[in-house]
Amino acid sequence: MANIQWFPGHMTKAKRLMEANLKLCDMVIELRDARIPLSSKNPMIDKMIQKKPRLIILTKKDKADDAETQKWIKFLRDETTEVIAVDATTENVIPKIVAASKKVCKPTLDRMVSKGINPRALRSMVCGIPNVGKSTLINKLAKKKVAKTSDKPGVTRSLQWVKLNKDLELLDTPGVLWPKFESEKVGYNLAIVGSINDNILNLDDIVIYALKKLMKDYPKRLEARYSVVLKDDVFEVLDQIAIKKGWILRGNQIDYDRAMKVILNEIRDDKLGNITWETVDEKNI
Ligand code: G4P
Repeated sequence: MANIQWFPGHMTKAKRLMEANLKLCDMVIELRDARIPLSSKNPMIDKMIQKKPRLIILTKKDKADDAETQKWIKFLRDETTEVIAVDATTENVIPKIVAASKKVCKPTLDRMVSKGINPRALRSMVCGIPNVGKSTLINKLAKKKVAKTSDKPGVTRSLQWVKLNKDLELLDTPGVLWPKFESEKVGYNLAIVGSINDNILNLDDIVIYALKKLMKDYPKRLEARYSVVLKDDVFEVLDQIAIKKGWILRGNQIDYDRAMKVILNEIRDDKLGNITWETVDEKNI
């Protein structure tokens, strides 16, 4: 963990820009990876948005365990937070996002109506850690409705407002929000889903962490994929997998380098099915 950088300069800049633009928004859309809904969260966001209406979009739901995603949706939802899960690569996400935004901003919309104002489009900031699917989502939304609104007074000119329809306008957050590596678990989870560079953490440690988790939460998947008989010791299981797969070097030595690389790639390619790496039930929140 020691060699993970915090990028403090970037963080400060992103924070400043977010805070400045938050004032112009009715709500915040926060993207998180459905497979790791806690590890993929930026820790500054809660403090910054406080009780402002928030829509959490769990992205890549097609790669997550659906039963766990449903639990996360219930768990994360509260009086000011709405939660939906999407596959941004295939789904028509606009109606879902608009409906959820209107729901979470109902008090704001009601206030406009009670003042006799025709409700204007809701303004939302969109934020998320790198690789969570922000550009995929925004590009998709922007392509459907290319109408971009003009810059709002007081906002940096380069900021891009994307008008989805009469109900919702989005502001892409400038700057990069990094996750906080507050525990080893967070680092491993981000590494497993490919959201941090593979060189940051030790590959063997990532795979051993993943195998342990699979042995605990998805043992049948491991058995089915690698025809192994599960034991308590993760290293025994690793050896069994390598032997079954024939990952053996001259001299009958197990080719651990190959084993680690292939297993991680197979996990990322969903060869073991859709997996959620942190569960609500763990209660380690
Ligand atoms: P970012 O702007 O937040 O950094 O993320 P970006 O949109 O670039 O998305 C990162 C990768 O995740 C992209 O894959 C994108 O296609 C994929 N992705 C985004 N949303 C979803 C989703 O809902 N479901 C699935 N399955 N994939 C999604 P990529 O360009 O191929 O990169 P990579 O997969 O090689 O990392």
